[in-house]
Parts: sequence; structure tokens; C-alpha cells
Amino acid sequence: MGIYVVTSLKRGSGKTTIAQYLSQALSILNKTILLDADLSSANYEWAMQQNNHLGFEHINVVESDSNTLDLRIQHLKNHYANIVVDIHGHDSNALRSVLKHANKIIIPTGLTEQDTRLVQEMLALAIAIKQFNTGLQIYIVLNKIPIGTDAEEIIEAKKHLQDIPSAKFLNTVIYNLDEWPSYLNNALDDQSSTDVQVILQDFLTEVLN
Ligand SMILES: Nc1ncnc2c1ncn2[C@@H]1O[C@H](COP(=O)(O)OP(=O)(O)OP(=O)(O)O)[C@@H](O)[C@H]1O
Ligand SMILES: [Mg+2]
Repeated sequence: MGIYVVTSLKRGSGKTTIAQYLSQALSILNKTILLDADLSSANYEWAMQQNNHLGFEHINVVESDSNTLDLRIQHLKNHYANIVVDIHGHDSNALRSVLKHANKIIIPTGLTEQDTRLVQEMLALAIAIKQFNTGLQIYIVLNKIPIGTDAEEIIEAKKHLQDIPSAKFLNTVIYNLDEWPSYLNNALDDQSSTDVQVILQDFLTEVLN
């Protein structure tokens, strides 16, 4: 139970995908809402297919606005056990107003030097927030990693970020899988490949425990 914020400075890193799967998984046990605060994505069609335990809301919010999301989350907390927020990682009043409520931040990233720099920037904000939201847990997950990537390369990328004690680098590596289901499919349904299901299960186990 809690408030999960999926955020990253990298465009296309998999925020929306991860937020959707996470909220689907959480909704199996408890009432969950996915709050889409990212202007680039509007997946109403996806939301229509969801079960009764999973709500979806898209909120248009400008970055300077520190009230709208804050008030909305305060309200939703009374109605849902879990709130998953999909939001771009650019430091803004809007993002900070979400992070102050968060129990967990999940940051998807890749392996390039630029990815590492962007994660460091994201972590600087998360750690600043953690000074007053002290229970905040910060997770970094590698996503869309090309299959066949040298294990050394993964270890090297992790090394740069592992010294940050307040963040946990997940062991799960989500590869760039051709058969990755689109938004309109349910990652947890029978049609998803075993590979995808196993990876997602590992991811969820790490984030939810
Ligand atoms: N592990 C994966 N393997 C293959 N494709 C993936 C994987 N994760 C995400 N994708 C695909 O990559 C694309 C970008 O993912 P997504 O929209 O979730 O990223 P995002 O961070 O929300 O992007 P944006 O910054 O534009 O909001 C989508 O087409 C999605 O299906
Ligand atoms: Mg998105």
C-alpha cells in the first residue's frame, strides 16, 4: 500500500509502461489508481480496459503548479489503497508536490553515460526530498537494455550509482524485448511471453517487498 512515483529525466525510458504494469499488479490485491501527470501520454483507451480495482486519471498540470497534484493526491488517498503517479522527472513545483507524498520512487534508466548523468540529477532531487520525507525509498531500474549486453557493461554502469546509499539499484534488468506488450495488452495476462512475465515478477518482487 502506498504512493509510487515512476519518474525519470529520460524521455522514452519506460515510465508509462512501468507505471501501468505496477498499477495493474497492485490492483490485484487493493484498489489502485494510476495518475497520469505526464502531458506526453494519454492512454485513455488502455484505462478503459482495466478492472474495477484499477482507476485511471489524467491530470493536466503545468510545472509551476504546486497545488493541483498535491490536492488531488490528498483526495485520492481517501479512496484508493495505492496511487501510482507517472510524471516526467524535470525538477518542478509539480513534481516536488508529488514527491513529498511518495513512499517509493522508481527511476527507469538505460546504460549510456548520459543516462547515468540524468539519473544522478534525478537522485539529487530525490535525496533532497528525502530530507523531509524520510521514509521515501528510491529505486533505480535498468529498462530497455539490449539483449546480449555484456554483463560487465551493466556492472560498470551500476558502479557509478551504487555509492549512493539512499537509493537501491534493482537487481532485475528489464531487457529490450521484441515481444514487449503494448499499452493495450495486459502484461500479466496469458498472452504475454514467459520472459516478460518472469522479468516483471522479479521487478515487482524487488519493488514491493
Ligand atoms: N523493456 C522494454 N522492451 C521493449 N520495449 C519497451 C520496454 N519498455 C518500454 N518499451 C517501449 O518503449 C516505448 C517508450 O516507453 P514508455 O512510453 O513507457 O516511456 P516513457 O518514459 O513513458 O516515455 P515518455 O518520456 O515519452 O513519457 C514504448 O513504445 C514502450 O512500449
Ligand atoms: Mg510516458
